[in-house]
Amino acid sequence: MATTQEETFKKLVAHCKEYGFVFPSSEIYDGLGAVYDYGQNGVELKNNIKRYWWDSMTLLHDNIVGIDAAIFMHPMTWKASGHVDAFNDPLIDNRDSKKRYRADVLIEDQLGKIEEKINKEVEKAAKRFGESFDEAMFRQTNPRVLEHQQHFDALHERYKKAMNDGDLNELKQIILDEEIVCPISGTRNWTDVRQFNLMFQTEMGSTADGAMKIYLRPETAQGIFVNYLNVQKTGRMKIPFGIAQIGKAFRNEIVARQFVFRMREFEQMEMQFFVKPGTEMEWFKHWKEFRLRWHKALGLGDEKYRFHDHEKLAHYANAATDIEFLMPFGFKEVEGIHSRTNFDLSQHAKYSGKKIEYFDPELNESYTPFVIETSIGVDRMFLSVMCAAYKEEHLEGGDTRVVLSLPPVLAPNKVCVMPLVKKDGLPEKAREIVDMLKFDFHTSYDEKDSIGKRYRRQDAIGTPFCVTVDHDTLNDNCVTVRYRDTMAQDRIAIDDLHNLIAKAVNPKELYKKIVGK
Ligand code: GAP
Repeated sequence: MATTQEETFKKLVAHCKEYGFVFPSSEIYDGLGAVYDYGQNGVELKNNIKRYWWDSMTLLHDNIVGIDAAIFMHPMTWKASGHVDAFNDPLIDNRDSKKRYRADVLIEDQLGKIEEKINKEVEKAAKRFGESFDEAMFRQTNPRVLEHQQHFDALHERYKKAMNDGDLNELKQIILDEEIVCPISGTRNWTDVRQFNLMFQTEMGSTADGAMKIYLRPETAQGIFVNYLNVQKTGRMKIPFGIAQIGKAFRNEIVARQFVFRMREFEQMEMQFFVKPGTEMEWFKHWKEFRLRWHKALGLGDEKYRFHDHEKLAHYANAATDIEFLMPFGFKEVEGIHSRTNFDLSQHAKYSGKKIEYFDPELNESYTPFVIETSIGVDRMFLSVMCAAYKEEHLEGGDTRVVLSLPPVLAPNKVCVMPLVKKDGLPEKAREIVDMLKFDFHTSYDEKDSIGKRYRRQDAIGTPFCVTVDHDTLNDNCVTVRYRDTMAQDRIAIDDLHNLIAKAVNPKELYKKIVGK
């Protein structure tokens, strides 16, 4: 029986735990909602993703430098950025279950259900009509599909308007009119919709009186904006230039779902690119294309990406798009690319009273630079890589295997060396090979169980190469290399191992693809 996407996703989550990629946070105390820990393999994969991003920004561009700003920032930062007043989600409670929901998510789920009904009609008809099925015609003419489509369009229009207007009463009315029930209690006993600020607060300072209310940063970007002058001056940066940063961000998400897709503590990789006003659209286009090439170079499947341009723009933006990736639960945002105008720098200038500008020697005038931002979640990137890599394969002879076809550049472990048996000097020879490789590659050693079982263990964590040392090795200095994806095996000289692995795991080839060389 075919497995549904939902079942595959559940298996992937279980796999992440079983093989040391991701654990629920503080699990011995039953976990903490939407907070996760990365295990021994997860942290390596995550570090490799971060390295791939960091180098593609700072190595490939001589006008992009990095910083590492603190998580705590002066509270005025968040007043200036607009987060204190406007970083809100519309929240609604069900009085019977006492569960809290995002009103917009309830309505979006309802839209999803209507879409599902349409898709089911189409699937049924496709089966019935076989080869002669004309899907476009069916969608345009089938009365049931048309009815659902009209419902969808009207609801979508009403929902979009309510969100654009910030009309909380209308959001509640939509929930009532659509007869949306609480998935736990099954009732429609809803409270009013109200705004909920997503920033976590804490206090800094020892005395109750003297303590200052501060926030855990909800985005890393503001650490870059407040350091714009420091970096520009000390680095003698000339516009256009960029500042890159990787770091933790925190959001008290009301609905936290889909594993590491929506977390309360997560990590962002952001780059703010400062440009001359009036040139922002050409840079926006440039960064859209660059970032898509960065994703595609990994080879997870070009058809799994699409842009989603924002119809409704934040008040400070003049263009915005998301790069979406096809997860088992649909196309979802992994990265945002935003043209943020000069909003943030101007706001910080206003609130701090400092002059935050750039003196352009060519124009002989000062201006507040405009900003193009590329902002990607490390955890969402991790999830997209895992979703694309996870495969259950049925092999000849009725055997099955679970394999993570991770891009070799990102794989946590690059090679595992295995003596065929635990005697006759084979373990010692295998250890010699480990010692030869370990300075350059993550290399593991495994002598337990049959070779077949050892291969499966490495497949499950995505190790691209297994190297087996047998009795002949002691005479001919050759080993058997087994490739993860094809399971093909080659006999090669130990002296050639380093080159073979280096070629596959070196990110240089990816960087060349990105810059089109
Ligand atoms: N500075 C712009 C900014 O923060 P955003 O669209 O709110 O923009 C950027 O976030 C990226 O951060 C998203 O595309 C996503 O990958 C990641 N992200 C945002 N909220 C997240 C959450 N709760 N859990 C995991 N990743 C998240």
